Amino acid sequence: MTGLDPRALRTAFGTFITGVTVVTARTKSGAPLGFTANSFTSVSLDPPLVLVCLANTSQNYGSLVNAAGFAVNVLAETQVTVSNTFARPSDDRFAHIAWSDGPYGAPIIDGVSAWFDCKMYRVIDAGDHAILLGEVKAFDSTTAPGLGYARGAYVMPSAATAAMTTQSDLVVSVLIERDGHVLLVGDGVGGVTLPESVVGKDETVSSTLQRLLSETKLSAEPGFIYSVYEDTARRRQHLCFLCQAANGTPAKGAFVPLSAGCWDDVTDPATLTLLERFTAEAKVGSFGIYYGNQNSGEVRAIV
Ligand SMILES: Cc1cc2nc3c(=O)[nH]c(=O)nc-3n(C[C@H](O)[C@H](O)[C@H](O)COP(=O)(O)O)c2cc1C
Repeated sequence: MTGLDPRALRTAFGTFITGVTVVTARTKSGAPLGFTANSFTSVSLDPPLVLVCLANTSQNYGSLVNAAGFAVNVLAETQVTVSNTFARPSDDRFAHIAWSDGPYGAPIIDGVSAWFDCKMYRVIDAGDHAILLGEVKAFDSTTAPGLGYARGAYVMPSAATAAMTTQSDLVVSVLIERDGHVLLVGDGVGGVTLPESVVGKDETVSSTLQRLLSETKLSAEPGFIYSVYEDTARRRQHLCFLCQAANGTPAKGAFVPLSAGCWDDVTDPATLTLLERFTAEAKVGSFGIYYGNQNSGEVRAIV
C-alpha cells in the first residue's frame, strides 16, 4: 500500500499522450497471439532495443514472457477496430485481420504505421506488470499517420489537424441598394466589394449585420438573405443580406449604378456574379436566394 489513490494515479498516467500498438508473438505450439499496448517505448539504438509492459493478469502472460521474440505493430489512425479487437476477449483475434509472418517470426499486421520484429532481450519483473525488452531484428515504417491515445480515448492527430485547418470563417456581407445603385467599398487589395465582415468570436450573424449597417452611417434596415455560399478556395462561408437604404452619405465607399460597366473594380468573381444577378432580378422586381459555392449553385425563388 502506497497511500496513493490508484484511480487518480491511473487518470494522471492517462494524460500522457501515446500511440497504440498491438504486440504479437507465437505460443509454443505456434498459434498467433497478440494484445493492444500503449506502453511501447523505444529504449536504445545500439543495441536496438524497445520495451512494452505486460500486465501479469494477461491471458497470454506465460506465452509472452517465455516467447523467443515478439513484434510491435504501431497502429495507423484507421485501425481503431484492430486496437479494440486486440484489447477485448476473443476466441481468435486474428480471424478478421490481414497479417503475415515477420522475418523473425512474430505476426505483422497489414497497414500499420511501423512494425518492429524483435528477439526477446530480457524480461523484467515490475510490480503488476512485466517489462518485455526486445532487440529489434527487422522493422519497417510507412507514412501512414499513427493512432493516438490519451485520457482513455483514441486520438486521430492528422484528422484533428485537417479539421482545424479546414475550419472556415463565417462572413456576412450586405448588398445595400438605393435608387438603382449599390454600395461598394474598398476591398483592401485595390478593388471594391460589398461591405463585409467576418463574424467575430463574440458575435452572432445578426449582431455582425447590425454592426456592418451602423458602420455605413446610413439609415439602412436589415433585409433578407440574398445569397448563401461557400468560398472553398478562401475557406469562407458567406451570407449576403439584401438591405434597402434610405438617407445619408456612406461613411466609406460610394453608391455605384446597377449597370455592368460600373463594376470593373470588383475583383471577387463571386461578388461580380451576385451583382449581375441582382441587376437582372431588380429589373423584373423578383428576387431569389442563391445557394452554392463561389463557382456554382442554384437560385431558389422566394415564395
Ligand atoms: C489503448 C490500450 C492500451 C493498452 N495498453 C496495455 C499495455 O500497455 N499493457 C497491457 O498489459 N495491457 C494493455 N491494454 C489492455 C490489454 O490490451 C487488454 O487487457 C487485453 O484484453 C489483454 O489481452 P490478453 O489478456 O489476451 O493478453 C491496453 C488496452 C488499450 C485499449
